[in-house]
Amino acid sequence: MFDFNYYTPTQVVFGRNTEQRVAELIRRFGGTKVLIQYGGGSVVRSGLLQRVTDSLDAAGIPYVALGGAVPNPRLSLVYQGIELCKKEHVDFLLAVGGGSAIDSAKAIGYGVASGGDVWDFYDYKRKATACLPLGVILTLAATGSEMSDSSVITREEGWVKRGYNSDLGRPRFAIMNPELTMTLPDYQTACGCTDIMMHTMERYFTNGGNMEITDAIAEGLLRTVKANAEILAKDPKNYDARAEVMWAGSLSHNGLTGCGSDGGDWMTHKLEHELGGLYDVAHGAGLAAIWGSWARYVYKNCLPRFRRFAVNVMDIEPTGSDDEIALKGIEALEAFFRRIHMPTNLRELGVEPTEEELKDMAHKCAVGVNGEKGSARRLREADMLAIYRASM
Ligand code: NZQ
Ligand code: ZN
Repeated sequence: MFDFNYYTPTQVVFGRNTEQRVAELIRRFGGTKVLIQYGGGSVVRSGLLQRVTDSLDAAGIPYVALGGAVPNPRLSLVYQGIELCKKEHVDFLLAVGGGSAIDSAKAIGYGVASGGDVWDFYDYKRKATACLPLGVILTLAATGSEMSDSSVITREEGWVKRGYNSDLGRPRFAIMNPELTMTLPDYQTACGCTDIMMHTMERYFTNGGNMEITDAIAEGLLRTVKANAEILAKDPKNYDARAEVMWAGSLSHNGLTGCGSDGGDWMTHKLEHELGGLYDVAHGAGLAAIWGSWARYVYKNCLPRFRRFAVNVMDIEPTGSDDEIALKGIEALEAFFRRIHMPTNLRELGVEPTEEELKDMAHKCAVGVNGEKGSARRLREADMLAIYRASM
């Protein structure tokens, strides 16, 4: 068991109509002028943005709004947001949307409060010294960004997608009304469930420092999301299933399911980030497409964890060799992905990289992790290329 620091300062306000409390919460955390960051327009169409601005108007809180945070949010919008905040003397950020709106807002917050070129943080050149305070109204359960220390931004030049982690960026509050996720296309719901499971699995498949309590939480979370993802695939308006998935999304990425471990593996995410940067695929779908190839490549180096996952999460009978049980667990998770209409290889994801493009992704991935990474198994560039090839 490793030492750990568990820091989750976000106030969670969960349930029906909780977005009505947005003005009160902004006030409570000292906001006097707000930048509302949202995405491509779903919050306009659903009427949520109007309800939010009506609440701010009624409370006398001035704001400016900035839409356009696309999936795999772009650096150019972040620069635009930073300039807008400076010009308008914004002192509080409100992200209304999914992970892309939240991550873009976090990056704007670092850029305004820390100064200099914000990309430096994502390029590992500097560490942020401050971030504007941020609140969230979540419309998509997936990334866990509403409680996490993480933000992922794509620089258009060279299509480089990078994450930056800092406790400074953890939101002050997160408003989570499961009803707000009912307008999601089924595909995005499934992508979200995949991402949520993967945030726990990245922490679960390790070769160092495991805790019984962390494992029990992780396995419970995985079973819950798996069961409720299947419910939502048939009954997308099921409030309780939406709520289970939404809360699991936050717990999956706020650090809870990694307490006591060596920090996790994270290679499926790193491999996916190259796909997202280059092909603009939905993050959760990219993870599903790559996971099976990663798992088959590494499982022998992390056999006890793969065996345990198969039995405790995927309900595989513990008969036969450990190898056989582990492989059945991998197959069972892929079968689950197919049931919720997620891809299990790059072809199903809809991309067909050339050999040159595979090499380029493997190279960028290796650079992005400083040469090597992974806990289930340490991976270098040649391993990354082998996994990309296997996922074709
Ligand atoms: O942009 P709008 O019009 O709002 O539409 C979005 C978008 O098209 C739509 N959507 C969101 N809520 C909706 C809705 N449509 C209808 N009804 C609703 N209630 O869904 C689409 C996807 O939204 P997006 O915010 O891009 O999805 P997600 O939350 O999955 O975020 C993905 C981004 O987060 C990064 C990913 O790499 C990707 O860039 N990640 C961030 C992490 C973090 N900050 O901790 C960790 C993750 O591992 C991940 O890397
Ligand atoms: Zn993720």
